[in-house]
Amino acid sequence: GLHLFDPARRNSRGYDLGDPGVPEALMAAIGAARRGDLVAAPIVGGAAREGRPEPVRNPATGATVGQVIEADAAAVDVAVATARAAQRDWSLAGGAFRAERLERAADLLEERDAFFLGLAMDEAGKTLADAIAEVREATDFLRYYAAQARADFAHPVALPGPTGERNELMLEGKGVFACISPWNFPLAIFLGQVSAALAAGNAVLAKPAEQTPLIAHAAVALLLEAGVPGDVLHYLPGRGETVGAALTGHPDLLGVAFTGSTEVARMINRGLAGRDGPIATLIAETGGANAMIVDSTALPEQVARDAVASAFQSAGQRCSALRLLCVQEDVAETMIAIVAGAMAELNVGDPAILSTDVGPIIDAEAQANIAAYVAEARSAGRVIAEAARTVLPDGGTFVPPVMIQLDHVTDLKREIFGPVLHVATWKGGELDALIDAINASGYGLTLGIHTRIDAVAAHVAARAQVGNVYVNRNQIGAIVGSQPFGGRGLSGTGPKAGGPHYLHRFAEEKSISTDI
Ligand code: SER
Repeated sequence: GLHLFDPARRNSRGYDLGDPGVPEALMAAIGAARRGDLVAAPIVGGAAREGRPEPVRNPATGATVGQVIEADAAAVDVAVATARAAQRDWSLAGGAFRAERLERAADLLEERDAFFLGLAMDEAGKTLADAIAEVREATDFLRYYAAQARADFAHPVALPGPTGERNELMLEGKGVFACISPWNFPLAIFLGQVSAALAAGNAVLAKPAEQTPLIAHAAVALLLEAGVPGDVLHYLPGRGETVGAALTGHPDLLGVAFTGSTEVARMINRGLAGRDGPIATLIAETGGANAMIVDSTALPEQVARDAVASAFQSAGQRCSALRLLCVQEDVAETMIAIVAGAMAELNVGDPAILSTDVGPIIDAEAQANIAAYVAEARSAGRVIAEAARTVLPDGGTFVPPVMIQLDHVTDLKREIFGPVLHVATWKGGELDALIDAINASGYGLTLGIHTRIDAVAAHVAARAQVGNVYVNRNQIGAIVGSQPFGGRGLSGTGPKAGGPHYLHRFAEEKSISTDI
């Protein structure tokens, strides 16, 4: 049956950062675990490949964190051929065999979390709190999908046999999967995709985002150390236009798991459709234009806390992040003032400093795009609040949080992937029109609702065309197994990561009917 709820399953442990000794000890451990000679070379068939190293930079400081070697066309070809030859045995080895290896990787990840925390901070510009959440989520994905592999992929399920036959249904891997992951969760989403594809019995070609190859390289090394065969899992760093295109255009590919922009998902979909070979599965998790609806009964302090966390944690670089705060007109003035007040308190700067709330934008190109958008809003007189506590190191790529006033909720036309919160008001009595306008964006990822009226929360939850509804809380940081994550429409294809149906999309079903 479906692995919906297992009372024995536990997510990974966290750290109590409120206890002053804890972050201090963690930062010391992270410092001790840092290595200066990281080289993310392609790994094909268990062996590193050569090439021209290029620096990987810390977005907060511009300092070099390590080197990356882009996979060339030959590496992609050899990886696909090797993966294809190895996949059947990996699938036949069974769910329990694969689960053991993923669970071993989860244990290793927890043991070495200081190293991975440091890399998430240095390479992706994460704060310590975000880095901890990142490593925990990665660990949780490994164990959750391992548990599902044991439950659903170890033995065939018996089906009714009214004609006197023995009928069984079993799941097996599809074949070779490409996993193409984003820089904003360079460990959690990377390992989530890869471990799901592996757990279901596929061979995997893993392409991390070009901005964050180092932590992904370390994750692949960990999986190989944990016993995933080198001919089953291959690591192919590089750009989307080169390595990504070579992968998704390959006729031997049976599936792609992609997380990133809607535009790139469309490109991959077109590429898969246009190529020879089997009709491949695309599992895409893309962007959002996520709204939070606040009615006049909502508690202002709670709204401020949750709106600021949802919009600005991780510098707004989450697909789940709040982009559009919709406040009921009667309370708008007070509510917006309180949110602006909370926003002004944010510390913006180097995430290596513990008190930092908002770190850098991932790279100069992203920073320039967001900054241009903010500048345009500023010259139109629409920037109504901004973060004031900014201490920005030289060489980093930062955009301090801003709040932008809109005339109407439909004025937000696209996803701005950074610390930019739009606000608009709505009139009491026009809640349905508001929900319809939000739905009409075509995105459908997260939606927040703040209200003291249960019937309003239930009504909004029922009418919203989104994947994740959050009531009277923030709308980020979905928890594996408890808040399956993913959207619809422009936000993705589903199924939801960390949910009971995810692995099944990576699998083929086979029914076996035997005359007895
Ligand atoms: N899963 C992340 C969250 O819930 C977003 O990608 O915030």
